[in-house]
Amino acid sequence: MKPRKINDRVYWMGAIDWDRRLFDSLIPLPDGTSYNAYLIQGSEKTVLLDTVDPTMVDVLLSQLEGVSRIDYVIAHHAEQDHSGAIPHVLERYAGAKVLTTPKGKGMLMDLLHIPEGRIIAVEDGETLSLGDRTLEFIFAPWVHWPETMVTYLQEDHILFSCDLFGSHLATSDLYATDEARVYEAAKRYYAEIMMPFRKVIQRNMEKIGEREIALIAPSHGPVYNRPNFILEAYEDWISDEPRNVVVLPYISMHGSTRKMVEYLVGALAEQGITVYQFDLAVTDIGKLAAALVDAATIVVGTPTVLGGPHPIVAYAALLANALRPKLKFASVIGSYGWGGKAVDQIAGAISSLKVEILEPVLCKGLPREGDFEALNRLAATIASKHQEHNLA
Ligand code: FEO
Repeated sequence: MKPRKINDRVYWMGAIDWDRRLFDSLIPLPDGTSYNAYLIQGSEKTVLLDTVDPTMVDVLLSQLEGVSRIDYVIAHHAEQDHSGAIPHVLERYAGAKVLTTPKGKGMLMDLLHIPEGRIIAVEDGETLSLGDRTLEFIFAPWVHWPETMVTYLQEDHILFSCDLFGSHLATSDLYATDEARVYEAAKRYYAEIMMPFRKVIQRNMEKIGEREIALIAPSHGPVYNRPNFILEAYEDWISDEPRNVVVLPYISMHGSTRKMVEYLVGALAEQGITVYQFDLAVTDIGKLAAALVDAATIVVGTPTVLGGPHPIVAYAALLANALRPKLKFASVIGSYGWGGKAVDQIAGAISSLKVEILEPVLCKGLPREGDFEALNRLAATIASKHQEHNLA
């Protein structure tokens, strides 16, 4: 794809990665992704903001063929999907310098072996004149690495936000025109990448919010020409209050745990609670992560295997623990053949979540009448806890 004009001074560049299906060897990408770079040609200086994943460096270099001079490359973030092509750009433009945060400088030297003499560290709030345009660098640490910053183009009111507000979505649309589709992709992306840093994002958004913003240009997914769409979504996702939602990931080997799960889902639905049921044997963990953004309660369903939870359930519990959603309650249900410590091990796996553990329901073999009654009591307890918190 050729460079795309945003205005007389600003162009989108980068690569659409339609076929990528996994990020960080962990995160599923059902809709691919993009690596967005942006070129700003001021009356005196030209800058390139971020680059592309090293696998697509040729795409960027081809887009730059008509650009005779680059004075600065802005590296908002040292992760290679944005920084990986910087060495190639520096090789082509011998006079170009990289501008980044002090932490970013060390990381670019470590990760990409960029010579120290080609990197200039900027300060938080520092501005750079391009002649008739002015860039302001705003440090935004932990979105999602410690060295991250964003750039504000003052005259055009454009925020270049790098990973923040991004979406893993390959699309030929320059702008977020299909907002329903972008919302799903951006929420999933938030859940997988940003949610562990929810509190820091709250502070960063307050800092960014002091500026008038006409356009948000992230480094993944389409550009937001209606910034309030994504800003309001983030305000909701990072808020402290969860919704009246239960997430129920489970594994069942011979059907007993599944009977319990289905019964509990029905009982919770009768209490007016929205439930997301995920069979971990087949589920996409990105969907599970996205459901956790709003959930107040997680109930983990597991059979006992080798004295503990099923390993896939243990993995999901560790993942939920790492993503740190705003859950308030947790419980475990499941079936065992001859005992074990599934509940203790699940509770240990989610120890970073500040949740109240509700009475688990475990049964021996196929559930009996008394087990279903215990599931009814668990559903009633969850409903009553949610009501105490006035969850909508
Ligand atoms: Fe898109 Fe953290 O890199």
